[in-house]
Amino acid sequence: MIIDSEKASPLGHEFHDPRVVRVGMLGFGTVGTGAFRMLADNREAIVRKVGVPIEVTRIGVRDLVKPRIADRNLITADLHSIVDDPQIDVILELMGGVEPAGELIERALLNGKHVVTANKELLAKKGTHLVRLAAKQGLDLHYEAAVGGGIPLIQPLKHQLAGNDVLKMMGILNGTTNYILTKMTEEGLDFDAVLKEAQEKGYAEADPTSDVDGFDAQYKLAILSSIAFGKEVLPDSVHREGIRGISATEFAYADMLGYKIKLLGIVEACGPNRILARVHPTLIPKAHPLGRVDGVYNALWLEGDFVGDIMFSGQGAGSEATGSAVIGDLIDICRNIRLGGAGNMIPFEYGMETLPIEQVRSRYYLRIQVKDRPKALGCIATVFGNCDVSLAGMEMKTLPEGRGEIVFLTHPCIEGQFLRALKAMRNIHIVDRINSWMRVEGTA
Ligand code: NAP
Ligand code: HSE
Repeated sequence: MIIDSEKASPLGHEFHDPRVVRVGMLGFGTVGTGAFRMLADNREAIVRKVGVPIEVTRIGVRDLVKPRIADRNLITADLHSIVDDPQIDVILELMGGVEPAGELIERALLNGKHVVTANKELLAKKGTHLVRLAAKQGLDLHYEAAVGGGIPLIQPLKHQLAGNDVLKMMGILNGTTNYILTKMTEEGLDFDAVLKEAQEKGYAEADPTSDVDGFDAQYKLAILSSIAFGKEVLPDSVHREGIRGISATEFAYADMLGYKIKLLGIVEACGPNRILARVHPTLIPKAHPLGRVDGVYNALWLEGDFVGDIMFSGQGAGSEATGSAVIGDLIDICRNIRLGGAGNMIPFEYGMETLPIEQVRSRYYLRIQVKDRPKALGCIATVFGNCDVSLAGMEMKTLPEGRGEIVFLTHPCIEGQFLRALKAMRNIHIVDRINSWMRVEGTA
């Protein structure tokens, strides 16, 4: 690190006044180029706010032939040489994946460099270790871009909201699935058709698994939960379901009943050091703040014991929005380098208990096909009643060949009770088929 002078401020703390903060980038794709462009386009404003220029001096990529918006001389495929470069103060890890990103970050921290990363998978799986290492080294490890792209979520949870006991958080944490679900809602199309269109437009990856099967949202919810509840929550302890199985019929019924279908990440406090965290398609009232978040937008709704309900929303992905979060973190680090205060990391503790999904208390949507016979409804109502599941609403439709379709909405019950009712229903002759069921959240 270049330190030009060290002098005491009028307030008595030490100023470390480098002439320039030198940055090494690992990865120069969607997020990397967005961050780089922001540094170049807003250079004057950033220097004014930070007090010193920020220079990107090395950029690590895989493919040396690809055209780049940066000077060719900065680019290398030797990423270790960047984290080992004694001239570099801050590393931006924007390459993704658990390895070699994790090993490179570790090495950068051991070499005395601050780190900014957007890597939700790495943070969700190994964040506790990396944050502890940064704290031990007296360095910053910032990761605002990892959840919610350009939306400030991590810093508000760590700081402005930290005095609250978080009671519940619900988030639309994945832009690709929100785009697909919005299109399915608006155009009545099936999942496969919308996914194909999203891939052609570049909104969805060629391999959409991480997004549509809920892994991406699972990582993000694990990170948010660890911060909000102050203890490590690993992704494996977050129940996960994706959106592949939802049919166009469900969107039509949801609309008729006043709901939207969203892939929500939900976590709630269930007692001291005990939470239940889950990612799954959910019916949410159209009038709920989350029901109005469409397209590639993300949002986090939070209920704290003192702050009440609040919601953050904005662009959860993309070059510029995510680049903005990366540069916000970098500016924070530069200020800490100049004014002191780096390394005030809040390491997560171990020991969070996470409850299984069967213990969740929720409302439910259920669609079944029945034989259209006298007493059919009475039979089904008896099954619900025997399992202590109370009904809140119902829609019926006559189908050809003496069949009928019934959609139920329940009052809140424990999932185990609801599943018992489904099991019992499968055994009564009047029920042809359980078509689908989903959890229902929120009041308008
Ligand atoms: P991307 O477009 O695929 O870019 C990845 C970059 O890293 C590319 O420049 C690639 O090199 C380089 N890279 C990857 N593996 C490498 C390796 N082993 N050695 C050298 N270079 C390597 O990815 P991205 O969308 O920018 O995402 C980057 C990170 O940000 C990920 O952790 C992602 O989860 C996170 N994130 C992304 C978004 C978003 O909107 N895209 C939003 C929030 C967070 P080449 O250019 O040579 O291929
Ligand atoms: N694939 C992610 C999404 C990118 O669709 O939200 C942002 O993390």
